[in-house]
Amino acid sequence: MSDASEVFAKIPDLGYSEHRPATDPKAFDAIIRARRSVRVYDSTPIPESVMREVLEWTLLAPNSSNLQCWEFYWVRSPEKKKTLAYYCFNQPAARTSQELVVAVARPWHWKKHARQMLEVFKEGEAQGHKIPASAKAYYAKLAPMVYTQGFLSSIGFLKKIAFFFIGLFRVITREPTNYSQMRLWGAKSVALACENFMLGMSAHGFDTCPMEGFDSKRVKKLLKLKGCDEVVMVISCGKRADNGVYGQRVRFPDSQFIREV
Ligand SMILES: Cc1cc2nc3c(=O)[nH]c(=O)nc-3n(C[C@H](O)[C@H](O)[C@H](O)COP(=O)(O)O)c2cc1C
Repeated sequence: MSDASEVFAKIPDLGYSEHRPATDPKAFDAIIRARRSVRVYDSTPIPESVMREVLEWTLLAPNSSNLQCWEFYWVRSPEKKKTLAYYCFNQPAARTSQELVVAVARPWHWKKHARQMLEVFKEGEAQGHKIPASAKAYYAKLAPMVYTQGFLSSIGFLKKIAFFFIGLFRVITREPTNYSQMRLWGAKSVALACENFMLGMSAHGFDTCPMEGFDSKRVKKLLKLKGCDEVVMVISCGKRADNGVYGQRVRFPDSQFIREV
């Protein structure tokens, strides 16, 4: 079994550097504070260009191993939108929204995407870019070792036992070793992308509401998803109506959650 710390610890000599563009914390503060979960929208449409730009920002979110095991369904058909709102229990946040986006984790796309990444590397090398051997080894060898779970997680189970014993002597990756951990793995990256989406909408002066109040089985059927996919959340969008925000934001004291250790 290859040693993950070998891959993680090495700093590759790439001869590449990227300057950090200037950013505006005040603008970010305004965007983040303007985002509220909005439950009632008015009839202002969202321009298609805004949707497209914000969806593009969504895909710029960090994601595990850069395997991009996510999909975002912008539900545009009026019938499907109505059905989706119904599957969201007709919550006003869904029913009154201008647009609905379903954020889905598709963890089983790791294999296809690992191959795609190796193709990207090949193209990069053909153009004279330096691709570290460790990056190629990551997608060709380590990713299959980490993400392959086998029938009924049988391989995952064997990995779990192996990780336990090897882990007694050295630092080792522990998860994912079964189907639900794969879904959790995918959902983490999707959730980050959802925040990009909601902040992007906020930057454009539009509102959103993330929803997990939906019938996941029916939503999957509507979008022709598979059982192993995870509908992480449905996000409604639009411009808030006067009664769109139900009250002042409530957060418990910072000291309850921020631990300096
Ligand atoms: C994963 C997730 C699921 C949520 N599901 C719903 C939902 O189904 N319906 C709803 O009205 N709000 C939903 N919310 C919104 C939360 O209630 C809201 O974020 C929280 O009350 C804090 O308010 P704020 O977003 O305005 O800061 C959800 C939020 C998250 C992150």
